[in-house]
Amino acid sequence: MIQKTLILLKPDAVQKNLIGQIIGRFETKGLKVIGLKMMNLDDKLINEHYGFLADKPFFPKIVSYMTAGPVVALAIEWEDSVATIRQLVGATNPIEATPGSIRADYAKNIDNNIIHASDSPETAEIELNRFFNVSTELFDYTRTLAN
Ligand code: CMP
Repeated sequence: MIQKTLILLKPDAVQKNLIGQIIGRFETKGLKVIGLKMMNLDDKLINEHYGFLADKPFFPKIVSYMTAGPVVALAIEWEDSVATIRQLVGATNPIEATPGSIRADYAKNIDNNIIHASDSPETAEIELNRFFNVSTELFDYTRTLAN
């Protein structure tokens, strides 16, 4: 099924000059980018996005990590994009990530795991609305010039 999903390149991805390499993984796979922007996360956005972890001991570390600099938000539309992208991204803990996945190749540890990807189509819809104005910042286009 065609799905839209959200990816965040976290502040360490931006600061280590990995934006292009990581987006390249998705483009090489053929996935269609339908939205892209750099932004700072404010407290409201962090609390909405990571509120389910607010009572965890590592929550303050998430807040300082995710506010250490801008992130790049990416919206993708493709067949089964949620599962496809989570496979390319690898497990939350880079130590457990499949060799060749983005987290296995680039991420330092679970506190600095370089990238976020929505974990279900339902979450993806909520997260796309959280990070994008979906009526003006997501694009519906056909690849008429691709061949
Ligand atoms: P992410 O996919 O963005 O979703 C939740 C984030 O919490 C996760 O990536 C990690 O960056 C962060 N995190 C830090 N410590 C842990 C932990 N022990 N278990 C799960 N997530 C953690």
